[in-house]
Amino acid sequence: EIGRRQRLLDAHKIAGEFFRAQLLTPAAASGRAFLQERGFERSAADRFGVGFAPQGWDALLKHLTGNGFTQEELKLTGMFSERSAAGGQNRIYDRFRGRLMWPIRDIAGDTVGFGARKLFDDDQGPKYLNTPETQLYKKSQVLYGIDLAKRNIASKRQLVVVEGYTDVMACHLAGVDTAVATCGTAFGADHIKVARRLLSDDGTGGEVVFTFDGDAAGQKAALKAFDEDQRFVAQTFVAVEPSGADPCELRQRRGDEAVHSLIRSRRPLFEFAIRSTLAKFDLSTVEGRVNGLRASAPVVAAIRDGSTRMGYSQELAGWLGIADPDEVLRAVKGA
Ligand code: CTP
Ligand code: MN
Ligand code: MN
Ligand code: MN
Ligand code: MN
Repeated sequence: EIGRRQRLLDAHKIAGEFFRAQLLTPAAASGRAFLQERGFERSAADRFGVGFAPQGWDALLKHLTGNGFTQEELKLTGMFSERSAAGGQNRIYDRFRGRLMWPIRDIAGDTVGFGARKLFDDDQGPKYLNTPETQLYKKSQVLYGIDLAKRNIASKRQLVVVEGYTDVMACHLAGVDTAVATCGTAFGADHIKVARRLLSDDGTGGEVVFTFDGDAAGQKAALKAFDEDQRFVAQTFVAVEPSGADPCELRQRRGDEAVHSLIRSRRPLFEFAIRSTLAKFDLSTVEGRVNGLRASAPVVAAIRDGSTRMGYSQELAGWLGIADPDEVLRAVKGA
């Protein structure tokens, strides 16, 4: 339904403008302070369309109703929650309240959903609330920042994947303008398709760099890509900041150059997968090395390309401090 889709896009456009205007009001002082603290000037907030959803239950509801949207249309936007009221009639109310609002735009630059961050730890609900699945918003396909990054990705033949909205902003402001983020979900098969299409015409060129903060969730997500698609993995790299800081924190503390330096420190995903397995063992002991070899051999064995597998078998011998590479090759073959 072309007509319906356009109506939903219009509702998102008007909502985004509403949130942006709200960010300038006295009620949004805490939102502006948050942005300031993160090192985001007014111009940065404008470029990314950041806004503010006021407290209360019906600020956006009234605004969109006043702009001619029906209850039925509003329900389909995902921007409202529903509760049953007396008399069996359901009432809808604003889903996003008292939060900073990031418009999530598709590749053409049209807003299809929102990411919303709470401003105080003791506020209700999770730190981030996103638009639920709608006719416009499919979280398995969406990449935050893709509208701004797409041309740079094609020309630099590099795609940087970060974890959060603020990380995308920090990267772009630092000059890493190929950064995108998934929106509260793992980088999956649909995202890989989008990445492929942007990186090259024939789907073989370019590189993808994942960054993660200190927690384990993101790292697990990258290792999942390992099983997903090995042709893709062969062009995939991982950049991890030793302190566990994410790109936004990094830029706040150490400036733009630290963000570039993080991306330059990237290592191949294969290497990352093997070395993070080894990191669980004390390689200064014989037992640690034996168990480390036992645990990492299957990771190397899972590499499908023969010469790459051989290469990492030899690397593994070096990382383990095992003098005879044949010992590692046997372990890999037996895994
Ligand atoms: N996320 C989410 N729901 C949460 C927590 C996180 O959807 N309850 C998603 C958001 O897209 C978020 C990303 O996961 O941007 C990364 O999470 P995290 O590292 O916890 O958030 P930061 O982006 O670092 O948050 P902050 O705003 O505090 O920097
Ligand atoms: Mn995190
Ligand atoms: Mn994380
Ligand atoms: Mn962060
Ligand atoms: Mn983070």
